[in-house]
Amino acid sequence: MKAKKYFAAAAGAALAISLAACSGEGAGSEEESTTGATTGTESTESSAPSEGGLVGVAMPTQTSERWIADGDAVKAGLEEAGYEVDLQFANDDIPTQGQQVDQMITNGAEALIIAAIDGTALASQLDAAAAAGIPVISYDRLIRDSENVDFYVTFDNYQVGVQQATSLLVGLGVLDKDGNETGETGPFNVELFAGSPDDNNATFFWNGAIDTLQPYLDAGTLVVPSGQTDFEQAAILRWQQETAQKRMEDLLTGTYVGTDMTVDGVLSPYDGLSRGIITALQNNGYEGTVTDGFPAVSGQDAEIASVKLIADDVQFATIFKDTRKLAAQAITATEAYLEGTEPEANNTTDYDNGVKVVPSFLLESDIVYADNIESLLVDSGYWTAEEVASGVAE
Ligand code: GAL
Repeated sequence: MKAKKYFAAAAGAALAISLAACSGEGAGSEEESTTGATTGTESTESSAPSEGGLVGVAMPTQTSERWIADGDAVKAGLEEAGYEVDLQFANDDIPTQGQQVDQMITNGAEALIIAAIDGTALASQLDAAAAAGIPVISYDRLIRDSENVDFYVTFDNYQVGVQQATSLLVGLGVLDKDGNETGETGPFNVELFAGSPDDNNATFFWNGAIDTLQPYLDAGTLVVPSGQTDFEQAAILRWQQETAQKRMEDLLTGTYVGTDMTVDGVLSPYDGLSRGIITALQNNGYEGTVTDGFPAVSGQDAEIASVKLIADDVQFATIFKDTRKLAAQAITATEAYLEGTEPEANNTTDYDNGVKVVPSFLLESDIVYADNIESLLVDSGYWTAEEVASGVAE
């Protein structure tokens, strides 16, 4: 048994309270977001009682709101449950994240929750964790090529890709919002973007999306004029907005400019990329709203700047993955290990990390369109109406 410490039953009640508290928090709660942004590190001293021991939480970056929200929610929930938390962000720098995890182990962490930058780059840290009997929970992104990953909490990433492609098809008018074909056959010009090739999720999103689009590509309803239909061609290293903007500009220059073709839609797997793509389109003369003919661009993460763009009918859709639920699941798994039991998995087949199938807990996601921003994001307290209106997290 890996767990080294057991904590009082009262912590279970505290956890329940903390999760209720978490669920009222907005995704953009950024009380710590600025402190580590320039240095790439953030040490968090807890004032809460720490009967449960120290838990290390390694997040990839603060350049995206979602990871700030994830970090805040995990930290708050663990502290409520009686743990001390060492929360670190690594500015998307692989060696920094490795050092941070090393330091957590040195500092006596009793469990690790890690959202990896590069899913294959933490092998030596995980070996050290295993040698010290520290359970490792892979958070949102699967850590690959290591035996020493105990559990994985994430969303159904293949289904996220299906939803991204579905939203694109809705934006083009090929499907209605119930997923039924409208009879519209195009042909529509689309371009395809994928996430970071070192992030295991990127392939899942891509596979879900391409499986959904393939029948329409085969039928000629969708056409990819650039011909760039391979994952390697579409991938954007580290999910960088600027890289996506540059690739979209290159696609426009290389394929569309000087012809009578226009882009009708873009498959984008993440809101940061979507905003880069939209900027490139706007810089090339595409204007107005989707209703007026601006290309339909998909997304992911319900980042506040993109939610506003969706409300304004400029970005067509995003995928909402409630980070509060993911954080709660990570805390539940941590609690199980430190109580000396195994967390409950709901998937034991899909997430092979190259060495073993990692038991996983998958959560469900939702497609956000302009007309359900309120019901999905505002009513649930994820964003306030004011944040949606301003496009800025408060
Ligand atoms: C993925 C994650 C997405 C998005 C992306 C860029 O691993 O599942 O939700 O956040 O990284 O940060």
